[in-house]
Amino acid sequence: MPSRLKITAATLDPAFLDLPWSTPLEEWPENVLAPLPRGISRHVVRFARLSGQVVAVKEISHEVAQREYNLLRLIDKMDVPSVEPLAVVHGRTDANGEELNAALVTKHLQYSLPYRAVFSQHMRPKTAFRLIDALAVLMVRLHLLGFYWGDVSLSNTLFRRDAGAFAAYLVDAETGELHENLTPGQRNYDIDLARTNIIGELFDLQAGGMLDESEDAIHIGDRIHERYHELWEEVTGEEVIATNERWRVTDRINRLNDLGFEVDELAITSDDDGTRVRLRPKVVDAGHFHRQIMRLTGLDVEENQARRMLNDLDEYRAITNQQDEPIELVAHEWLATIYSPTIQMVPRDLRARIAGPELFHEILEHRWYMSQKLKRDVPTWEAVKDYSEKFLVRRRDERVYMATTQELPRIATEE
Ligand SMILES: Nc1ncnc2c1ncn2[C@@H]1O[C@H](COP(=O)(O)OP(=O)(O)OP(=O)(O)O)[C@@H](O)[C@H]1O
Ligand SMILES: [Mg+2]
Repeated sequence: MPSRLKITAATLDPAFLDLPWSTPLEEWPENVLAPLPRGISRHVVRFARLSGQVVAVKEISHEVAQREYNLLRLIDKMDVPSVEPLAVVHGRTDANGEELNAALVTKHLQYSLPYRAVFSQHMRPKTAFRLIDALAVLMVRLHLLGFYWGDVSLSNTLFRRDAGAFAAYLVDAETGELHENLTPGQRNYDIDLARTNIIGELFDLQAGGMLDESEDAIHIGDRIHERYHELWEEVTGEEVIATNERWRVTDRINRLNDLGFEVDELAITSDDDGTRVRLRPKVVDAGHFHRQIMRLTGLDVEENQARRMLNDLDEYRAITNQQDEPIELVAHEWLATIYSPTIQMVPRDLRARIAGPELFHEILEHRWYMSQKLKRDVPTWEAVKDYSEKFLVRRRDERVYMATTQELPRIATEE
């Protein structure tokens, strides 16, 4: 190891020092690399194995790496879905003493899919819409916190399955800026760029035969605009209601919760004549259901998965006649008697292919379909068996999604 090597990190795994830092990233040997699919990028990005986990290494200048590292740490602390930064490595020199670029190291996001992997088989507009919807939620969350992204695109986002939908994670924060508040101009600039980039990416997919030529890429790309503004309006917009329509206050809070946003306070001001009030919510952040499940069960799950689990928990509470019991106790029991055993019923070799909460969601869906078809109540064990044998065996392992060929692998799930 060259003596000038410097590593900035919050905590450092000693195995870090074993990575071949004196070799340009492009030439790292196969035995340290993990062959996973990546989005398109300007810089060299590789995945490396490190103490049983996988890390993403990006080669960039020291200044840029340090800046991105700091930003990722900040947004990670604010609980925004993003990749987790591990370290900046600089002062690298090769065998001849030539300087090498610095590297930013982030944790590989388990079960995440770059958008091209989501579409690898046969992309349908419905899937594109789902990805864009997830990206709109991420943008609203970031903008509420004053984060201007500066280069929003599908390649700068990673997607995780979320109970049939997707959850978006920020992966590339290089162009980001954190402000106290964003002006409408800054927000609009971010959305316009997102739209332009997405349309470009959809054209690329069409050129690569992954999206039907007949689909209107511009129309699909416009959706980011619509979804973002709808959400922003719902989350921050002022509403005028008559004083005798107080129920609309609760209504607004419920709608925001349904969208996954948490209301911190409501600013209510009455009009001069006292007949109407103005209502403006102060939304803290998304993750309403996520936080509830975290508090009740300690499980760290996506928003829609959390909602699905809470519904099942409610049902369990009703069936077992425990409406008057504290929810914390019922949740504990539900976890031990319903959730965990359901996951455990899945054959061990298939279990890790999909993240646990998504597996749980798919099993419940499957049980519902089977019951509909067979016109009887299908027990969970029967649904698990059928689901595992017919569907899960055909799924790829998405934990670290291994690419076996140059081509991106197929996913057999977009039915
Ligand atoms: N921690 C991570 N987990 C999973 N995938 C990652 C991670 N970091 C990077 N990637 C993959 O590598 C790709 C490139 O990373 P990134 O966007 O940071 O590179 P870049 O060269 O800065 O991109 P750009 O061309 O937008 O400047 C991403 O699209 C993503 O697919
Ligand atoms: Mg990028």
